[in-house]
Amino acid sequence: MTESTLDARTTEAAVVLANDPGWWRQAAVYQIYPRSFADANGDGIGDLPGITSRIPYLVELGVDAVWLSPFYPSALADGGYDVDDYRDVDPKLGTLADFDEMIAALHAAGIRLIVDIVPNHSSNRHEWFREALASPRGSAARDRYIFHDGEGPDGTEPPSDWQSMFGGSAWQPVGDGQFYLHLFAPEQPDLNWANPEVRADFLRTLRFWADRGVDGFRVDVAHGLAKDLTYPLRSHAELEAMRIGAEGSHPLWDREELDEIYAEWRAVFGEYDPPRIAVAEAWVEPTRRHRYAAPTSLGQAFNFDLLRADFDAAEFRAIIDHNLESVVVTGSSNTWVFSNHDVVRHATRYGLPADHGDDGQIGRAWLLTGGVAPTVDVELGLRRARAASLLMLALPGSAYLYQGEELGLPEVADVPEADRQDPTFFRSRGTDVGRDGCRVPLPWTREGSSFGFGADGAHLPQPAWFGAFSVEVEREDPDSTLNLYRRALWLRRDLQDVEELAWRAHASGSDDVLWFARPGGWESITNFGSTPIELPSGEVLVTSAPLADGRLPGATTAWLRAAAAG
Ligand code: GLC
Ligand code: CA
Repeated sequence: MTESTLDARTTEAAVVLANDPGWWRQAAVYQIYPRSFADANGDGIGDLPGITSRIPYLVELGVDAVWLSPFYPSALADGGYDVDDYRDVDPKLGTLADFDEMIAALHAAGIRLIVDIVPNHSSNRHEWFREALASPRGSAARDRYIFHDGEGPDGTEPPSDWQSMFGGSAWQPVGDGQFYLHLFAPEQPDLNWANPEVRADFLRTLRFWADRGVDGFRVDVAHGLAKDLTYPLRSHAELEAMRIGAEGSHPLWDREELDEIYAEWRAVFGEYDPPRIAVAEAWVEPTRRHRYAAPTSLGQAFNFDLLRADFDAAEFRAIIDHNLESVVVTGSSNTWVFSNHDVVRHATRYGLPADHGDDGQIGRAWLLTGGVAPTVDVELGLRRARAASLLMLALPGSAYLYQGEELGLPEVADVPEADRQDPTFFRSRGTDVGRDGCRVPLPWTREGSSFGFGADGAHLPQPAWFGAFSVEVEREDPDSTLNLYRRALWLRRDLQDVEELAWRAHASGSDDVLWFARPGGWESITNFGSTPIELPSGEVLVTSAPLADGRLPGATTAWLRAAAAG
C-alpha cells in the first residue's frame, strides 16, 4: 500500500468512526496479547508503546478493531487475567498516558479498541482481597469474595471437593478456619456478585475505560459471575454430571441472575454515543449463547463452534447454518474464531492426526509432557488453516483473529519446562502443558535476538524457525499467509454491508465442498477434500493456495465474483 492510500484511509476512517453504532456487526477484530506483541523498551515484555509503534502494520493488514487482552497491573499468575487494579495500566506495560496515546493513534488510524474485562475474579493482590485477608470472618470485606468455614471435625477440610479449572482444589485455606473459592488459580479469588459493592465497582470500571474512549469490552468468563452457594454444597461429581447451561440451574455456571447484572452493564453502555459494545466469553451450549448475545445483555457472544470443529465440510456447514439462524432470533451478529490465547493455534490443530480426538482442551493433550507427541503434518495444517480462515472472512458476522495467525504461525510445542508460565502446566503437574505455546512473542524480522519483537530477548523463548514466519519475510512473498490475509481483509470491506446477513449455500455436487454466495455476486468455495474440483464460473479474486490447472485443489478456498453480477 502506498502512503497516500494510507492517508486517504485515515481521513475517511475518522469520519466513519464517529457515526456507526453498528460497526461491530461485521468487524474484523484483531486480538493482541500485549506481553507478546511488540516490546518498545527492550525489557523482553511487550508493552503499550510497542502496540502504538505497530499501528501502521494493523492498518496495512486491514482490521477494523483491536481486542486487547488484560494490560492491568498483575503479578501474571495467569497471564494478566489476575488483575490487581482494574483502573490502571501495568507499569511493566506502560502508563495511563501511554494508553491514551495508543487509543488516540488507533482511532486516528480508523481502528477501534475493545478491552478485556475480568469480572469473575480479581487477583489476590487486589486491595479488596488484602483487606479481606486482614479482616475477620463475617466482615464486609470478606463478603466481597466467597469465604466459607472449613469442614470436618477440626474444620481443616475444604468446604467441598470442587476442582479448579486449572487443576487442584478450588478452595484455599487462609489460616483462620476459613477457605476462599477460586475457580481458576489460587491467585484468582472469585468475587461475590451478590454483593452490591462489587456490582457498583464494575460499573465504575466500565465508565472509567469508556470515558477514555474504549469502544467495547470482551467479558472474561461471562457465564461464571453468579453462583449459588447454599449449603450443603453439591459434590464435584454431581456438578460434573450437570451439563452447563442445559437447565440453567448449575450452581456455578450460566445462572439466570446474570441477566440482571448485564442489564445494568447495558445501561452503562447506552450512556455513550455510539453505545459501547461487549462480547461475552461464555463456554455454554450453543442454544444458551443467545442470552449473552441479547440486545438487553452483552449484545454479542463468542461462538467457538468452528474452533472446535474438524476440517470437514458437513460439520462447517451445519455450524454456519445453525448460527446464522440463531442471530436472526437474537438480532445480534455472529462471531467467528479459530484461534485465541487459550487454544492450540489452528495451523497446528489442523495438522494433527485425524484421531487425536477432542479432549476438551482443544488439541492440547497431544503435547503431554513425557507423552509421545503425534507427528504434526505442518504443511497440511497450514494449508487447511489458510483455507478455513479465507472461508471465515467471507461469512456474515464479525471475525476474531489472534495475533500471529495472519503469519500462519504454528504452535510452539516445545517451550522448555523451565520457561513455562501458564498455571495450567504447574497445577496439572505437567500433564497439561498449557497455553504458552500460542503466546510466544511475534517474529517481526528474519533475524535478531528476538526476531524484531524487542531490542533484547523475549519473555517466552522463540524457536529458531520463527524467522521464516516473520513479518519481514512474509511481506516480501506474494503467496505468504500475511499477504493472503491482507488481500482478503481488504476485499472483505466490500462485503461489510451491515443490513445483509444472508448467505446462500449452493449445492456443489460434492460432500467435500462448501460453496456459498454473498451479496453483490460474491462467492466463496472451499474444497475440504483432496481431489481437485472444477471452479464455478466467475472472476477469481483470491485463493488460499494456487489453483491446479484452473481447478480448485484439496484444502483450498477461492473467492469469486460470479459472472452474472458482472
Ligand atoms: C478466560 C481467559 C483465560 C483465563 C481465564 C481465567 O478463559 O481467556 O485466558 O485463564 O479466563 O481468567
Ligand atoms: Ca517492554
